[in-house]
Amino acid sequence: MALPTINPTKTKSWNALNAHFNSVKDLQMKDLFAQDSNRADKFTLKWEDFYVDFSKNRITEETLKLLLDLAEEVGLKEAINSYYSGEEINETEGRAVLHTALRAPKTESVLVDGKNVIPEIYEVKEKIEKFTKEIVDGKLKGYTGKDFTDVVNIGIGGSDLGPAMVVESLQYYKNHLTTHFVSNVDGDHVNEVIKKLNPETTLFVIVSKTFTTQETLSNANTLREWFLKHGTKNDIAKHFVAVSTNIEKVKGFGIDPNNIFPMWNWVGGRFSLWSAVGLTVSLAVGYSNFESLLNGAHKMDTHFKTQDFDTNIPVILALLSVWYNNFFQAESEAVIAYSQYLNQFATYLQQGIMESNGKSVDRAGNAVNYQTGTLIWGEPGTNSQHAFFQLIHQGTKLIPADFIGFAKSLHGNKEHQDKLMSNYLAQTEALLNGKTAHEVINELEKQNASEDTIKKQLPFKIFAGNKPTNSIFIEKLTPESLGKLIAMYEHKIFVQGVVWNIFSYDQFGVELGKQLANNILKDFENKNSSNHDASTERLLEYYKSKR
Ligand code: F6P
Repeated sequence: MALPTINPTKTKSWNALNAHFNSVKDLQMKDLFAQDSNRADKFTLKWEDFYVDFSKNRITEETLKLLLDLAEEVGLKEAINSYYSGEEINETEGRAVLHTALRAPKTESVLVDGKNVIPEIYEVKEKIEKFTKEIVDGKLKGYTGKDFTDVVNIGIGGSDLGPAMVVESLQYYKNHLTTHFVSNVDGDHVNEVIKKLNPETTLFVIVSKTFTTQETLSNANTLREWFLKHGTKNDIAKHFVAVSTNIEKVKGFGIDPNNIFPMWNWVGGRFSLWSAVGLTVSLAVGYSNFESLLNGAHKMDTHFKTQDFDTNIPVILALLSVWYNNFFQAESEAVIAYSQYLNQFATYLQQGIMESNGKSVDRAGNAVNYQTGTLIWGEPGTNSQHAFFQLIHQGTKLIPADFIGFAKSLHGNKEHQDKLMSNYLAQTEALLNGKTAHEVINELEKQNASEDTIKKQLPFKIFAGNKPTNSIFIEKLTPESLGKLIAMYEHKIFVQGVVWNIFSYDQFGVELGKQLANNILKDFENKNSSNHDASTERLLEYYKSKR
């Protein structure tokens, strides 16, 4: 069954939310806390090692009720069933969306076109496990008989961002292999990586779902040429493996068929790190850690599928995001992780969220007249506090933020962890309460400031507060908790796509630029270039004259 095509703005609950918004938009969260001593408990979800406090949001119980009504009215329950059971919810590409099947237990059955795909998934997992063990233990060796020391992941978009983010996030769990990621078609990227490599001990993992992506194939060719300056064609089989759905193209590239790790077209690129696309993750942290990552995601899948909406973490986070995006007209959301390990987390989420929900046509093919996909951005705390927090605290824009933090540090430095987490808590508190004129005056008086100074400085030192945050507290960063966290955002994306009545699993918006780049590439060699606008024409000529 296809997803329903319900225009959310035509629902009863949307209208009710509109009216409700007018009555609550100016409420101060700190007053809501003062009025209800149970607010924090009421708006906190505890699940496994997750503690999700969403009480610092501009909502009342009525807001939550209406948002939950909206979820019912747009058919979220049925949509979740369609999502998990392999129906073609990626209608525009005629595909199921089954990254959840990649982390399902062996005993489950998930049908695609009447065929259970779980056995195939486990076949590939076994291949990943065996290969990982053989590389890590040194059973498989390079062409001169040496153990592998380095792994280069060659891919872009979902074939890069997920594995790169996970490898960085789990670097505490890493083994002796050094991992590199080459994604950009910028030749300086690949050449900087080459500088660090020894061809005798480097394994190349080419990751491309389609195996047609310009960037990945260019980088793979460059690395193969570099390799062939040292090894021979016969040595390629020992050093190059590929992950793809396009087996013929991979063979055409010269990869040994035994070195192909298949994936399936029902796994979207930006949701593919759980498939063989995660091979570099498995190589870097070992298969059992890769498996724990998948198990964590599966636990979140079960939570999302079975939990009532009012206690369902991805559902609540998605509805809050809709509340700000569509009623407060907030333009963006920040994700601030208080862990340096999650340095690339926001970048990873940008593809997941913006490639999925950056759509302006609804599921019936009509232009939407409401906002969809949020802009997503962020950097780890505390660094971001010293960079862009000024704007969140005192700028003109409303920027709801997710604060992600871990109770325990991995290296066990409690002193640092206490400082880190005091900042986490302080920032959410500051964003909630702000600082009143009265407080500023008191503070300046204590510093013996003159009346004139106080008068002059007062307006600049006031913090309006009332800035919403979600506090996502997790006990410890482990492969399993990371799996849960990533899956939590994947399901948040899904819920928002359902509410906004858009197709979240295609990405036609990335095609046009690719097509034009191919034309322009030809024009670099043409005497008379094809028709471009005057600006592009001049820029093209400028480039040709300088390159
Ligand atoms: O950017 C568009 C896109 O198709 C992404 O969705 C995908 O993750 C990326 O390109 C890479 O594609 P492939 O894995 O087929 O090389």
